[in-house]
Amino acid sequence: MNYSKLKIPNHIAFIVDGNGRWGKAKGLSRSGGHEAGFKNLMKVLSYSYSKGIKYFSAYLFSTENFKRSKVEVSFLMNLLTGKLKEILKFCHDEKIKVIFSGRRDRLSLNVVSAMEEIEEETHQYKDRIFNICFNYGGRAEIIDAALDIAEEIKKGELLPAMVDEDVFSQHLYQQLPDVDLMIRTSGEMRLSNFMLWQCSYAEFYFPKVLFPDFDEKEFDKAILEYTKRDRRFGGIDYEDKSN
Ligand code: IPE
Ligand code: IPE
Ligand code: MG
Repeated sequence: MNYSKLKIPNHIAFIVDGNGRWGKAKGLSRSGGHEAGFKNLMKVLSYSYSKGIKYFSAYLFSTENFKRSKVEVSFLMNLLTGKLKEILKFCHDEKIKVIFSGRRDRLSLNVVSAMEEIEEETHQYKDRIFNICFNYGGRAEIIDAALDIAEEIKKGELLPAMVDEDVFSQHLYQQLPDVDLMIRTSGEMRLSNFMLWQCSYAEFYFPKVLFPDFDEKEFDKAILEYTKRDRRFGGIDYEDKSN
């Protein structure tokens, strides 16, 4: 699809969902589904950046996903370490800067050092930002920001009256523009604790397809749907003069 005349989103936030069901439906394990999801994520990223998207956030492991079986949790953790070389090559080829959002406390040293290596190796790229939400929770992020602010107030570096939306945003995990389009695959229609602050005025899109099957055509459909939305941000259409 030709995107040149379209008003595209600046920041897409993607809840990668349905990998487990996809694996089962193919007669594979849930991990087989995650493997396919990982491969597809690189395709989706490469296509969306080629179409001019600047910021792409992906929800890959929630603070609640630790409730899953040991086998599944360790498979998901090992994706980052096991595929480190492949991830780095992909990011260099595509000139993508990777940043990670989330708490690092429950992650193993191996996983944290893989994350640090990816961030360091890709920090020079400026135009394509990939925010990986890993051991991420929207509530945890808001609490962590509030704790940071409380600490600064305690040290006398900030006054309570100075805390407004801008100051609060500066204490979130990353300095990113608001989300324009939030996509969640697999037909589930909920946020599951994803970017609660940043999605305040996002447009939501819930395709039924499971993530490993979300292809270029599905991406085009999402963008077309986005271009039809009337984003008012609480204002009104100024063409409409009636009262
Ligand atoms: C999304 O796929 C990836 C993660 C949450 C890690 P799921 O694993 O949630 O797949 P379903 O929803 O069970 O099919
Ligand atoms: C949300 O998906 C988390 C990620 C995609 C990483 P889940 O599959 O964990 O969410 P629920 O349990 O269906 O709400
Ligand atoms: Mg799921």
